[in-house]
Amino acid sequence: MTFKDAVRRLFLLLVCVPGTEGADGWTVTYHNTTSCALKGSTVEITCTFHHQLGINDRGVTAKHTFWFRKQQDNQRVDLRTNRTYIGRVRYHCDSDRCSLSINDLRESDAAVYVFGLITSQGSEVAGEPGVTLTVTDLQVTKNQNNNHMCQSRCPVSNPSYIWYKDGEKIQGKPDQTSYRTTSCALQGLEKFPSPPECNSGNSCATVVNVERSICAFTGSSVDISGIFYSDYYYKLSPLWFVAEREQQKWDIPGNVYQRKARFQGFARNGQLRLRITNLAESDSGEYRFGYKTYSRTYSFPGTTLTVKDPDLKVEVIWTSTGGTLVCQSSCPFSDRYSFYWYKNNRPIYRETSPVLKGHAFSEGRYSCGFERYHSREVYAPRIPTVSRNKEVVEGSSVNLTCSTDANPAATCIWFKNQTFVISQKSILYFNPIRSEETGHYKCKCNNTHGNKYVSTHLDVQCRSHFIFIFTAIFFLTSDA
Ligand SMILES: *[C@@H]1O[C@H](CO)[C@@H](O)[C@H](O)[C@H]1NC(C)=O
Ligand SMILES: *[C@@H]1O[C@H](CO)[C@@H](O)[C@H](O)[C@H]1NC(C)=O
Ligand SMILES: *[C@@H]1O[C@H](CO)[C@@H](O)[C@H](O)[C@H]1NC(C)=O
Ligand SMILES: *[C@@H]1O[C@H](CO)[C@@H](O)[C@H](O)[C@H]1NC(C)=O
Ligand SMILES: *[C@@H]1O[C@H](CO)[C@@H](O)[C@H](O)[C@H]1NC(C)=O
Repeated sequence: MTFKDAVRRLFLLLVCVPGTEGADGWTVTYHNTTSCALKGSTVEITCTFHHQLGINDRGVTAKHTFWFRKQQDNQRVDLRTNRTYIGRVRYHCDSDRCSLSINDLRESDAAVYVFGLITSQGSEVAGEPGVTLTVTDLQVTKNQNNNHMCQSRCPVSNPSYIWYKDGEKIQGKPDQTSYRTTSCALQGLEKFPSPPECNSGNSCATVVNVERSICAFTGSSVDISGIFYSDYYYKLSPLWFVAEREQQKWDIPGNVYQRKARFQGFARNGQLRLRITNLAESDSGEYRFGYKTYSRTYSFPGTTLTVKDPDLKVEVIWTSTGGTLVCQSSCPFSDRYSFYWYKNNRPIYRETSPVLKGHAFSEGRYSCGFERYHSREVYAPRIPTVSRNKEVVEGSSVNLTCSTDANPAATCIWFKNQTFVISQKSILYFNPIRSEETGHYKCKCNNTHGNKYVSTHLDVQCRSHFIFIFTAIFFLTSDA
């Protein structure tokens, strides 16, 4: 990218782009229609949306909002149901302002992202044109005067760079004294440095194909790998170490696994691997590959390993065509993982994706897993039950408590005479109860999977009479 292009991009970022009027009178406005971010970092894309009649006016509302990646076939697939984004995307809406954030950015995330919404009438609206995201790495180059430059395809105003010589942070720019590799990073984004650049032609050692970050569950195993290039590889003593805890190093004696050890280093023909078994949270850190020469140790930007407690959970994502179940975790999963699903404790055969489509989620109990990790079961509310204090007369206090079994936990609300919402809580509290409170009461419990109702008739008798409450149970699963 030339400087002129960069300036043009920067200019694009500074102008607000007017929204385009979409279907049904909806308008979506993106503040920036282009965005640029460093590989490995997090990007946030924002927009605002409104309806020409005003949201919440005349029954016009956005029931669900989502983001999708623009496809050639015009499919609008919620990013949360694309397995390469699971665990890495987060949606946030604050009234009419919505944002999408994607973390641990990969080059394959470069795409056009579009905001979509599903209206209360069930139609789908897409906020064209969307935001074009560029994902890039920093690069060390030299100008005509042989001075080091840190370049990126992203326009950065007043950048402040940090430089590294042979993996070690230095003050200012590298000079001409003896060292092998140079890399640079943006201040504040030191975790995402450029790949190391050889200082004298191609004859210095470097490591490529290193995954920037890996997330794994406690108790599991992980392989951290890379490819090492060097002309004099055979002369070097390779080792792995943790950047934050330099005393923690693993030599690779004889280039073979040390069986039984929890950390096993391996290097052969330039293929590097460190296998860690039975992971603990304290193993989190940046794992670097290095090599020793007679005078010192050299290293390269490594892989950041995050170890977390297993936290698989099933989430429902609603789209205009129905619900989709997604096996979620705060650890983004590698595409290599194979998942399994259970419905009512029985395996659903041939489902190996973390995304489960085409099931009636309002019925049945679902759970997911991989390897030896399982999520809890999720299910729609059971038919609620109503409990109340016995023997209450007019003028005393009466509680109608609605409860149900559901996962995730359900919220219950009370209606009177079918339509009026009289309590946003599961307890309906009368103190003192009056005879006008006689009538039909209905409790509705819902969670993301569906809803169930229970009806109750409250017959408040005058003082010295009894109160009869009988509960007529019926249920319906509806809209959701
Ligand atoms: C638009 O891009 C600029 C430059 O990258 C950034 O500073 C600004 O926060 C962005 N605005 C929004 C609303 O995302
Ligand atoms: C899912 O993501 C991958 C890359 O991350 C992309 O190639 C693919 O088109 C996406 N699929 C959909 C339907 O958005
Ligand atoms: C009824 O509910 C109220 C509010 O939750 C509570 O303070 C009160 O103790 C309850 N009364 C009875 C009789 O359960
Ligand atoms: C509910 O219906 C009863 C009789 O059918 C009526 O007396 C009462 O006013 C109604 N309550 C509400 C809140 O509409
Ligand atoms: C329950 O239903 C209400 C209104 O019908 C809705 O606003 C709310 O989001 C639902 N709760 C869940 C957890 O889906």
